[in-house]
Amino acid sequence: MKAIVYKNYGSPEVLHLADVEKPLPRDNEVLIRVHATSVNFGDSMARNFKAISPRQFNMPFLFWLMAKISFGLNQPKITVLGNEFAGEIEAVGNNVNRFKQGDQVFGYTGEKMGAYAEYLCLPENGVLAIKPSNLTYEEAAVVPYGALMAISLLRRANIRPGQKVLINGASGGIGSAAVQIARYLGAEVTGVCSTSKVEFVKSLGAAEVIDYTKEDFTQNGETYDLIFDILGRSSISRCKSSLKPNGIHLFASFKMKQLLQMLWTSRSGGKKVICALGPGSVETLYSVKALIEAGKIKAFIDLSYPLEQIAEAHAYVEEGHKRGNVVISVG
Ligand SMILES: NC(=O)c1ccc[n+]([C@@H]2O[C@H](COP(=O)([O-])OP(=O)(O)OC[C@H]3O[C@@H](n4cnc5c(N)ncnc54)[C@H](OP(=O)(O)O)[C@@H]3O)[C@@H](O)[C@H]2O)c1
Repeated sequence: MKAIVYKNYGSPEVLHLADVEKPLPRDNEVLIRVHATSVNFGDSMARNFKAISPRQFNMPFLFWLMAKISFGLNQPKITVLGNEFAGEIEAVGNNVNRFKQGDQVFGYTGEKMGAYAEYLCLPENGVLAIKPSNLTYEEAAVVPYGALMAISLLRRANIRPGQKVLINGASGGIGSAAVQIARYLGAEVTGVCSTSKVEFVKSLGAAEVIDYTKEDFTQNGETYDLIFDILGRSSISRCKSSLKPNGIHLFASFKMKQLLQMLWTSRSGGKKVICALGPGSVETLYSVKALIEAGKIKAFIDLSYPLEQIAEAHAYVEEGHKRGNVVISVG
């Protein structure tokens, strides 16, 4: 089968099309014919991990070290990237009960990656679900990463209807899902993004949009129940006066300093700092599917590339300015 392989860390050009052995499903696995996958922050980071210093990594040093060991110190241990996908089940192992041949599915492989290929084997109890009936394969492939992260992280803030929520980094993969989910939960959402993405973030359902190139949201006198910072660019001290008395400053990207603030604020009343990881689970993926089928959240594709042009897609994503998601059509 065809797959995009990389043997060395580096720039997008390390990715190349190769013929590799088609995988065979074990007894508890399904074999998926991948129709579409994506390029997101995780793929771009993993491809070039050798060059990512602890300072550049958006997490504390210990997390960087663990990632370094798990990805491979000098050479990547996993040679096929791609952490989200949509496709069709081609075969099932002897003990598989949840899926059958012909099922249209979507899912998330997380740090195990492997979706930049024509075929992928996954355990039936992996983060895998029947594809939302109202999405194409391309649309379904770009949903899991952003929506799973957004739902898992927003759960930590327990949003209630009528609350004011600010999402910093509202135009990316996680942010575009977070705006829609916070709005669905009944929040009044303010999105923060750059000029070219203002209309996009409004279209996601944000009541207000702040263009960070023109205005500093910490200086406009508004207060929020939740400030959700996806890229970890906001400062706790500067945001303090933008939080309501029991407000939460939630970080998807954080360093030791924010972790210590989380510990400190957890022991006192009032404003809280929360740093959280968003592990994907199959239960959350089914919640995502239900929200999509109910028309509550949509998939947004910025650009689409064929598998052969994946290096171009990586170069674009690496710039860090994408609008929603970048999809890769496979086959
Ligand atoms: N906690 C977890 O479990 C977890 C899991 C995965 C990822 N993450 C974190 O999530 C981040 C990646 O998020 P993503 O996948 O959504 O990124 P993405 O899809 O690459 O999007 C980033 C978006 O942010 C915008 N942006 C850039 N600078 C900004 C600024 N200063 N203020 C507001 N918006 C800005 C960009 O557009 P413009 O440049 O045009 O503004 C772009 O639309 C990483 O920092 C990663 O560490 C955390």
